[in-house]
Amino acid sequence: MKVAIVGYGAMGRCLLERISRQDQLQCVGVIGSSFYRQIDQLPQPPEVIIDVSHPDALPVLARAMESHPVPLVIATTGYSEAQKRQIQRWSHQVPVVLSGNFSIGMTLVNRMLRCCAEQIADFFDCDLVEMHHDHKQDSPSGSALMLRQTLRQGEEEHADRQIPIVSLRRRDNPGEHTVILHGDQEQIVITHRAFSRELFARGILEAARIIAQSEPGMMTMEDLLLHRRQTL
Ligand SMILES: NC(=O)c1ccc[n+]([C@@H]2O[C@H](COP(=O)([O-])OP(=O)(O)OC[C@H]3O[C@@H](n4cnc5c(N)ncnc54)[C@H](OP(=O)(O)O)[C@@H]3O)[C@@H](O)[C@H]2O)c1
Repeated sequence: MKVAIVGYGAMGRCLLERISRQDQLQCVGVIGSSFYRQIDQLPQPPEVIIDVSHPDALPVLARAMESHPVPLVIATTGYSEAQKRQIQRWSHQVPVVLSGNFSIGMTLVNRMLRCCAEQIADFFDCDLVEMHHDHKQDSPSGSALMLRQTLRQGEEEHADRQIPIVSLRRRDNPGEHTVILHGDQEQIVITHRAFSRELFARGILEAARIIAQSEPGMMTMEDLLLHRRQTL
């Protein structure tokens, strides 16, 4: 499968390194300040585009969607609501996976919280704490926003209830998220720790493999995890 990577930061490098070790994957080009500037300048057209860049790079994806629309895996975080609506419109043409976190563990934490969101809203106050490396540009993290959105789904009457997020930036931490649920005489603490960026690269490439064969539409990592179970 021919892949183009938009963004050559820490994640772009990690993806390229992983792709180079897999015979069935080929990177046809990287979009970044020291590489190609647009997807339509690449020597070969990609079959899937992976975005690990910055919300300001969205015009690169927009041009690609106009000239040569192909399935999209979007891992970049920090997109505005308006930008997400634009991405959603592309999903009428091509399959799109958008997730603030491509790890299996965080996808499961999010799913567990969704299952209990109503009961959590009824009986618990919530806090979120996220910790990342000190080069991270967006704050709070996309994963923390995803968890907060999930927790708010249990609160139809109080959809704007405060769920504070504390963001810490420390050294080279690849990503840690803690959900603290404060009840009456009890507390639940759930922590997910990523030990390396390899974890995200693995999930991103698995997502690329699945959506290369999918119908147009918007998908999350949770959708892909269920799909994988059905196709086992
Ligand atoms: N969803 C997930 O599971 C997951 C996991 C890890 C990271 N991420 C997200 O992935 C993104 C990249 O992470 P990272 O750690 O690789 O960050 P990074 O090291 O800061 O790299 C960011 C990359 O974006 C490019 N970029 C920045 N501004 C740009 C612009 N205006 N136009 C085009 N390209 C631009 C930079 O290109 P140049 O250096 O060439 O200028 C750089 O290659 C972040 O949003 C991060 O939160 C998501």
